[in-house]
Amino acid sequence: MPSFSGHSAAMAIRKISRMGHSVLRTHALAVEDPGSPEIARLVQDMIETLADADGIGIAAPQVYEGLRVIIFHPPQDHEEDAEEDPDLEEDETAPQSRADIIAEPLTILVNPEIEYLTDDQEDGWEGCLSVPGLRGLVPRYTHIRYRGVDLSGTPIEVEAKGLHARIFQHEFDHLNGTLYPQRMTDLSQLVFETEV
Ligand code: NI
Repeated sequence: MPSFSGHSAAMAIRKISRMGHSVLRTHALAVEDPGSPEIARLVQDMIETLADADGIGIAAPQVYEGLRVIIFHPPQDHEEDAEEDPDLEEDETAPQSRADIIAEPLTILVNPEIEYLTDDQEDGWEGCLSVPGLRGLVPRYTHIRYRGVDLSGTPIEVEAKGLHARIFQHEFDHLNGTLYPQRMTDLSQLVFETEV
């Protein structure tokens, strides 16, 4: 985590844009200076907004900033290990509590890029702070590599599978004007979370 001690301005919870607003349909712009105070402030606000909303990840367009910045809590490593180890008798269908996910540190990515490491996709349930109250079954690539830089401009490169890869793809889509319902292949699986 970068230190924000040089920035004394108080953090702020921002309003979250909702499906239908043009900022969510727009290709976000690359950040020219990831180390600028303006980007640090934006990320501070995204962190506070994400925590307030009990979310797993958020992209800058969701706080009305058309810039290529995403933050998310990667899932715990043991889940990814479990997927690779057939001897582990962990119940893969067990719902993962948000508390498990949120316990992990936050990933901050400026100007992220994606590389697909497989053609395989799998369906999984997603929600989105910009599509409140709904859940949808969304196909995502199961194995990716993502790159970006942090707030000090240091390169980040991570290989991700499963839920970790899914979370990145969801947030990355926000930077290209895409919401998860647009990725769905069966809209009968778009449901109110209160009905599940
Ligand atoms: Ni979202």
